[in-house]
Amino acid sequence: MRRMQTAWMGLLNILRASFKLNIMRASWIYLFAGLGVLTASFAGSAPKPRQEADAKTLIQGQCAKCHSGEKPAGGVDLSGDLASIAGLRDVVRGRPQASSLYKVVRDREMPKGGPKLSDDDLTTLRDWIMSLRPDPTALFKARCISCHSGASPAAALDLSGDLKALGKLPQAKFGDEGAATAVLYKRLADGSMPKGGTKLTDDELSSVRDWLNSLQPDPRALFTAKCVKCHGATNPAAGLDLTGDLTALAGLKQVVKGKPAGSSLYLRIADRSMPKGGPPLSDSDAGLVWDWIHSLAPPKEAGGLSQ
Ligand code: HEC
Ligand code: HEC
Ligand code: HEC
Repeated sequence: MRRMQTAWMGLLNILRASFKLNIMRASWIYLFAGLGVLTASFAGSAPKPRQEADAKTLIQGQCAKCHSGEKPAGGVDLSGDLASIAGLRDVVRGRPQASSLYKVVRDREMPKGGPKLSDDDLTTLRDWIMSLRPDPTALFKARCISCHSGASPAAALDLSGDLKALGKLPQAKFGDEGAATAVLYKRLADGSMPKGGTKLTDDELSSVRDWLNSLQPDPRALFTAKCVKCHGATNPAAGLDLTGDLTALAGLKQVVKGKPAGSSLYLRIADRSMPKGGPPLSDSDAGLVWDWIHSLAPPKEAGGLSQ
């Protein structure tokens, strides 16, 4: 019993230490992604050129020799440019842990027959996938535009536009509880769309939610699902009430506007001490909290990043 406990503690500490390293890296990615959003003022900004160059060199050098030609290994063609690789179903934009392209390398199944990739290479691949902003256009093209395009699209909803046009649809607007309340998300989550077709997979559903969240980061649905059972309105843990509207949340003392790395609300998620006792949040959920805090304009006198 005692022994098992120590073994568990050891494992936990290792996990925690390695996660902290990853989070430090991740913070930078979110910082770059966030800065991109600030300057582009619209999600869908390109990843850092350096990161792209590294990922491209890596894939060309280590993978393309088997994954190219008429019959690429496993039916996965990795010989094209990064944009085409990002469009493969082996890549879930912004979510390396859900991307088989990352998982097979992480689990040392690829490159087939070795030599195994270094930790740095693994990080390069992870960071590149993480830097890809969510983009539902390919999904909509494949599953929706047969009805939702043309001269008279179903429900007058045209889903064939580019990211900018999609972001302006009234159906992409949030209700009171964040992205999960946008009509465009609700009709997918309740399975009523695609009409008559198979339901979207969980990953596809998350990609739509991540995209909606990237339009205007809103963590309320996440807090409701993962935090308010302890941080509710009455007698909240640590006096921290996470049920408020966006203005109330932005005013919490655990939030430093514009500075996720200085906000305990983000840091307690990043070091995995919250949700207490629960499974840690996914990369994309942690990223959402980062994006939201980062999107809050810091007070004027702080200067700097206030646009
Ligand atoms: C020596 C040849 C070879 C190299 C190099 C190689 N692969 Fe593969 N890969 C294969 C083969 C063969 C398959 C088919 C499945 C299998 O046999 O495991 C495959 C399958 C895959 C799949 C599909 C797996 C699945 O379960 O859907 C992915 C993704 C993949 N490789 C990624 C990569 C990446 C990323 C690299 C470079 C880091 C890489 N491969 C390097 C031979 C290779
Ligand atoms: C086979 C045709 C068809 C396909 C495919 C289809 N839809 Fe629809 N969709 C409709 C029709 C017809 C309506 C209007 C009737 C209704 O609301 O059920 C509709 C309504 C909607 C609405 C409600 C619009 C509003 O303003 O109330 C949304 C949102 C929607 N679809 C999203 C999607 C998405 C996203 C996909 C792809 C993942 C999709 N649909 C695929 C036929 C389709
Ligand atoms: C199972 C109950 C539980 C859940 C779920 C939970 N917390 Fe907590 N939280 C606590 C308790 C108890 C404390 C006080 C003890 C501590 O700081 O560890 C706390 C403290 C905190 C603090 C420190 C507040 C301060 O000023 O000292 C933050 C920030 C926080 N939680 C954020 C979150 C977030 C964000 C979530 C959801 C992603 C979450 N918590 C989910 C129980 C919970």
